[in-house]
Amino acid sequence: MSNTLDRSESAAETHSVDLEQGFLDKIESETKIEPKDWMPDAYRKTLIRQIAQHAHSEVVGMQPEGNWITRAPTLHRKIGLLAKVQDECGHGLYLYSAAETLGTSREELVTALHEGRMKYSSIFNYPTLTWADIGAIGWLVDGAAIVNQISLCRTSYGPYARAMVRICKEESFHQRQGFGIMVTLAEGTVDQKAMAQDALSRWWWPSLMMFGPHDSDSAHTQSSTTWKIKRQSNDELRQRFVDITVPQAEHLGLKLPDPDLRWNADRGHYDFGEIDWDEFWRVVKGGGPCHLQRMATRKAAHENGRWVREAAAVYANKQRTNQQAA
Ligand SMILES: [Fe+2]
Ligand SMILES: [Fe+2]
Repeated sequence: MSNTLDRSESAAETHSVDLEQGFLDKIESETKIEPKDWMPDAYRKTLIRQIAQHAHSEVVGMQPEGNWITRAPTLHRKIGLLAKVQDECGHGLYLYSAAETLGTSREELVTALHEGRMKYSSIFNYPTLTWADIGAIGWLVDGAAIVNQISLCRTSYGPYARAMVRICKEESFHQRQGFGIMVTLAEGTVDQKAMAQDALSRWWWPSLMMFGPHDSDSAHTQSSTTWKIKRQSNDELRQRFVDITVPQAEHLGLKLPDPDLRWNADRGHYDFGEIDWDEFWRVVKGGGPCHLQRMATRKAAHENGRWVREAAAVYANKQRTNQQAA
């Protein structure tokens, strides 16, 4: 009896070793992992956490900008901002759908956010004080998101990678509309230029923080790199963003709030100062000035939309029953 048990246990072990090897071979050969493929539990969990956090960020990120739709200075700007905020909602939808292919549900993920068990990007815990903040967010926050997300278009999990391809196309529109706002302000009156400078000075460091902790302090970097969920490290992506953005600030005639920022010819990159990591961790842990307000608005929106979800479910049921009867 115990021999049979030993044999079946070792057969199961061999089987799981084969499965794991098959999974690693796919990763190695750049074949995408698809929802029905075998995958290690930790890979599944890492992806659910990352994709859900990303989805939550898209949805909560609608708040600081939605705040300015009614106050946009022209009809043209209002249409652009409205389209952008709607895009972010769509990004949330693609991403929740991608997460659902891993065996979780949108309901579960949204509940986890509302109960504080899941996070969204801490950048959205900062307030939008002036119209120039809308320019700075589009230019810097969406700009940083693009750098991150271009890299994720090649992530190993198929549904996530495909969602990223669609999202990146829209993010580049967001980045350009934000930069367009900054150009108008920077070329405007003295007050408008000062408003643009003030927004840049407040959003620069939080934008750099969007790439996360240094590689040496990042808990998830190692396994995410092995499984090709992440193709480039936090520090590499942050450097790329700085290199792209510094010439854009020069074009605007605005000053980046970093006395240590300078071109390093030996490295072929810009050197820049150290992030205030105390502020980073404080905001990540929910200490940002707007965290409570963002969560209260999110939960209220969820409650206010309950009747729509219920009505849609009743309608879908009715359609199904009618189709079965026909
Ligand atoms: Fe987005
Ligand atoms: Fe965006």
